[in-house]
Amino acid sequence: MTTKKLYIKTYGCQMNAYDTVRMHDVMRPLGYAASDTPEDADLVILNTCHIREKAEEKVYSDLGRLLKEKDKKKARGGKMLIAVGGCVGQAEGEEIIRRAPYVDMVMGSQSYYQLPEMVTRAIRGQGGVVELDFPAEPKFDYLPEATKQGVSAFLSVQEGCDKFCTFCVVPYTRGAEYSRKVSAILDEAKRLVDQGTLDIMLLGQNVNAYHGEGDDGRTWSLADLMAELSNINGLERIRYITSHPRDMTQDLIDIHAGKKIMPYLHLPIQSGSDAVLARMNRKHTAEFYLDILSRLRKVRPDIAFSSDFIVGFPGETDAEFEETMALVREAKYAQAYSFKYSPRPGTPAATDENQVPEDAKKLRLAQLQALLQEQQMAFNASTVGKSFEVLFDREGKYEGQLLGKSPYMQSVHIKDVNHYRGKLVSVTIEESYLNSVAGRVMSFNSNQKVA
Ligand code: 5AD
Ligand code: SF4
Repeated sequence: MTTKKLYIKTYGCQMNAYDTVRMHDVMRPLGYAASDTPEDADLVILNTCHIREKAEEKVYSDLGRLLKEKDKKKARGGKMLIAVGGCVGQAEGEEIIRRAPYVDMVMGSQSYYQLPEMVTRAIRGQGGVVELDFPAEPKFDYLPEATKQGVSAFLSVQEGCDKFCTFCVVPYTRGAEYSRKVSAILDEAKRLVDQGTLDIMLLGQNVNAYHGEGDDGRTWSLADLMAELSNINGLERIRYITSHPRDMTQDLIDIHAGKKIMPYLHLPIQSGSDAVLARMNRKHTAEFYLDILSRLRKVRPDIAFSSDFIVGFPGETDAEFEETMALVREAKYAQAYSFKYSPRPGTPAATDENQVPEDAKKLRLAQLQALLQEQQMAFNASTVGKSFEVLFDREGKYEGQLLGKSPYMQSVHIKDVNHYRGKLVSVTIEESYLNSVAGRVMSFNSNQKVA
């Protein structure tokens, strides 16, 4: 079989990053090897994100650039197929081919297990192949076994969302909530660990709504799943993302006492104003959210938090924005993401008449980001002098520098000639910056497997 080149560009969230790994799994048996550039690729897939307008526009500008590569390849007598997958594919469908007629395939976020068949049709010249179905059976069931991912790996446990926050496209692009079976997840986790993975990030759009079918006939919660995963020898770190406050049940809070559960949680609140939260259909208050943080801190005193915020949601007043600032001051984040509200077609808030003017959104975002940066600096500074385990998984910018992740998801760099790559090492933090910290190696358990 002649080897063909497959280039996949991933946009957006970790779910897409996982889907990219799985698309490679689907195409590998057909002779498609991963390529890290689109030049000269036989198949290019844009695995897209539709969450905000900017993300969508980026896809169209990348497509313009790809057309040039496609033409170059054609001039050499070759053929490059271009596919748009992920959430823009799901949401826009045929519209993509109308705007960019050189796109050969469009597939939704649930259709990529059909890639081989779509590619065959596109090669035969049946241009404009579009697949947007949500299969009756979950897509995971059709996929080949997951392959090796490295010391840190993603594991998808849940997909879709039934929460319908009024700003969000996810319930439309990813569909109804679905939880994978417990046995499939445990098998995948064990396989990853056998292949050298030490650190697993459990993924789902609304991951803590997980309710999967166990072989024992019970419905397992995310906490049940994490308890079982904690028993896997060789698996050292467990995290999960992204959670909704309403699904932070007491069993899930309690599981955070576990040694393998990392003391860091991304728990988006979006706004600190109860009135805005109600208009967003979040179905919780700021107080409810802060209570979860304090219960988690009780169970795990060293836990740190991250969140997502939207400023300029329709109708947001200055006073309501100030409530967000107040909540941030009270919650004290280690890190957080913040965005200007972006109206998404088909979502209820997009047609609200009280859209906030762009300059007000800009101003609020700058204010919020300044506060969040201050907190991030303070958090990083608070780790100076502390020692914890760091998983070194990549090379740094400078020669002899190694980068790793702390339990709090900080980037940690040390000076080292690759000796600790792929390993969990005890490090003392000596310096802190806005986006990273620097440390010195304390001790290293040499019995560890090397990935
Ligand atoms: N506008 C701005 N931000 C949004 N997000 C989701 N939808 C929108 C939107 N329409 C943000 C939320 C979510 C994160 C992934 O993206 O904060 O938690
Ligand atoms: Fe979107 Fe998250 Fe709300 Fe679901 S819970 S609708 S994914 S913001």
